[in-house]
Amino acid sequence: MNPAPTNMHSIKKLSVFVFLFLFLGFSHAQAHQAGVATAHPLATQAAHQILAQGGNAFDAAVAATAALAVVEPAGSGLGGGGFWLLHRAKDGFEIMLDGREMAPGGAHRDMYLDEEGNVIPKLSIDGPLSAGIPGVPAALAHLAENYGNLDLSKSLIPAIRYAREGFAIDAHMQNLIKFRQPALLASPAAAEVFLVNGKVPPIGHEIVQSDLADTLQMIADTNGKGFYQGEFANTLASGVQSAGGIWKVEDLINYKLIEREPIRGEYHGIRITSVAPPSSGGIALITMLNILEGFDLDAVSPIQRKHLIIEAMRRAYRDRAQYLGDADFINVPIERLTNKAYASGLRAGIHPSKATPSALLPTAVDNAGNGNNTTHFSIVDGDGNRVAATLSINYPFGSAFMVPGTGVLLNDEMDDFSAKPGVANVYGLAGAEANAIEAGKRPLSSMTPTFLEDDKNIVILGTPGGSRIITMVLLAVLEYADGGYADSIVKLRRYHHQFLPDKLIYESGALTQAEVNQLEKWGYHVEQHGSTFGNMQVVIVDKNTETVSASSDPRREGEAIVR
Ligand code: GLY
Repeated sequence: MNPAPTNMHSIKKLSVFVFLFLFLGFSHAQAHQAGVATAHPLATQAAHQILAQGGNAFDAAVAATAALAVVEPAGSGLGGGGFWLLHRAKDGFEIMLDGREMAPGGAHRDMYLDEEGNVIPKLSIDGPLSAGIPGVPAALAHLAENYGNLDLSKSLIPAIRYAREGFAIDAHMQNLIKFRQPALLASPAAAEVFLVNGKVPPIGHEIVQSDLADTLQMIADTNGKGFYQGEFANTLASGVQSAGGIWKVEDLINYKLIEREPIRGEYHGIRITSVAPPSSGGIALITMLNILEGFDLDAVSPIQRKHLIIEAMRRAYRDRAQYLGDADFINVPIERLTNKAYASGLRAGIHPSKATPSALLPTAVDNAGNGNNTTHFSIVDGDGNRVAATLSINYPFGSAFMVPGTGVLLNDEMDDFSAKPGVANVYGLAGAEANAIEAGKRPLSSMTPTFLEDDKNIVILGTPGGSRIITMVLLAVLEYADGGYADSIVKLRRYHHQFLPDKLIYESGALTQAEVNQLEKWGYHVEQHGSTFGNMQVVIVDKNTETVSASSDPRREGEAIVR
């Protein structure tokens, strides 16, 4: 975390800005400092560099998105997708950019099943058959063209430099390479970039991505369009097909970046703005908060409070499995699921001191994933424009397939569909018909970039973490409601229940042994998870003092800078 500079420093800085803008003939000065929190110091620096060059939060989001594609390739990239939640300060306009992957035209509901109708292991996880049509390149262009101050080419400069000059891998990235080594080895182009003679590289090894730099430059030169048509689209489609995938050039031409209305809710006077389907995040978050608002969480014991929160999680994830999917293809009952009266009904079924077995609530599945994938960044500029973005290629290094000659590592987001209704995906998440595979459909996501606002503050937050994303954001909102701030929110110890498998998982320090014992007496299956949860990035603007705070999750290598 970076403490805000002294008032004197701020005053001096403000004076310089005022002078510069007056000198240049502009009539506006920045209202406050800018804050950026991302999962990698180079991405945070890229965003600040673009802000310093006259870019706004949306240009900085372009820079951060592209930089993360280069320096955190296990989490997101040009071959993936994401959701960018935007707030424009001058008119309060808010929108969600849906850059989620689309199933290719040849996709169908049984594509990962064998002749007996069983799911073929790994087919939706490794290799190009697991990849949806990426949305990140379209989102970069859309952000720059519709919301930014700068040309796309300018905001891509830092990422192109990182790709061309290389960056050093850290321990976390080394672990993820180790984890995905067999899959990376199956893709000669990916192995060439991320392995050294087929072996896991040492910490500090420089990863240079010349093909990726060329692709980013091509995107800059064609204003993003070159990714989806012409020679480059041919290279992508033929590279995918020659390795067993089904992409066609028309699938790339048909990709659409969609602007959607965010999901909104309110919890004890805190206004929540989050993402709509095809993410389940906003709806599940509001359902959980609506359930919990009806309890006096301050009046119950700490263990009872946790029990009530866990039961709210269980119920929202049941609904996720049952009702949620791409709302362009199925009827998602958004009004009902985000309605406070509906939450009252769910609340009424919660016993004050007994777990509700998930088997008593209709639907099915097993086995939670590790959630080291995906990335999140939060940005506010000096004018109050803000972006919360969660981006993914799904599993660490996505499908681990890199299209030869492009540097583009493809996602395996097709695994976020239900390969077979009732059978779990890589995160152990159950799915129903609502999330069945269909050509052109977007797989259901858990990504939950979110804004909170009350009389005092504006909060921009989110995290990676697979199926645990939504409950991590829930715990963050509750911490904020209890008076927590950026630093305490990112440090918070986390626990999670996702309906099925019917177990409560927690990271070290989230529950005491006495709490575990009590929860087990109340009927929970409790399990400490082997690794930490998430990588939250939080930026907060204090509306009264106009100071900005930013914190990056201490569990990982990210960096938050306010300047
Ligand atoms: N691929 C993780 C998610 O979208 O939830």
